[in-house]
Amino acid sequence: MIIAIDGPAGSGKSTVAKLVARRLGFAYLDTGAMYRAVAWRALVQKLDLTDPLPVETVESIRTIAQTEPIRFGFTPGDPLPSQVFINGEDVTRQIRTPEVDRAVSPVSADPGVRTALTEQQRAFGREYDTVMEGRDIGTVVFPAAELKVFLTASAEERARRRAQQNAEKEGRTAASAEEIAAIRADILRRDACDSSREVAPLVAASDSWLLDTTGMTIDEVTSAIAEKAGELR
Ligand code: DC
Repeated sequence: MIIAIDGPAGSGKSTVAKLVARRLGFAYLDTGAMYRAVAWRALVQKLDLTDPLPVETVESIRTIAQTEPIRFGFTPGDPLPSQVFINGEDVTRQIRTPEVDRAVSPVSADPGVRTALTEQQRAFGREYDTVMEGRDIGTVVFPAAELKVFLTASAEERARRRAQQNAEKEGRTAASAEEIAAIRADILRRDACDSSREVAPLVAASDSWLLDTTGMTIDEVTSAIAEKAGELR
């Protein structure tokens, strides 16, 4: 069974997708991490990522996506992956930097990169009962997924959540208004970029379940999805 969870940056996809996978005993695939890994390799290779991408860059990022295997690593005793590798190198932390945040939109807009990663995602989903999260899982990767969820939340709420996460990672209790505003601007920019690209834009599949999580707790969202999946199994 495939549970597709799509939605914009900061909609709570990752947190919820992981919790749903844990609750149901499913595998979990973070497809955004795969695009991030390719973007990180593009940065390491110092490719020119200005818009529109130069032909040489397009060739190089396609080669990366087609030839450099992406793998997930596990911590003993935990069924969900905790590490991301590309070409054998652990890039778990590197792919969450602001540089990669910026580089990933142009890289993920390339059709050749998308085809290569989509194939890997389909192969994974054929192998395991999976909760797969991304932007195009219900529309392109697994349009026949048994359950397709499109998570949304207001830009304000998404920025607040992301800023809070960042602050907590740094050992602070709360984010500042400036931090929230900066993240909100970045979220709006990425939404526009992800929604307007020609290939696999961020749109809800017509038959997906639209879940607005503004004002809902993580537990409420997780339970709603797990219950719906239970009804379909
Ligand atoms: O979910 P995320 O923020 O880690 O995703 C990183 C980027 O990758 C984001 O800009 C959109 C892109 N992406 C995509 O185009 N298709 C996917 N299935 C997943 C992510």
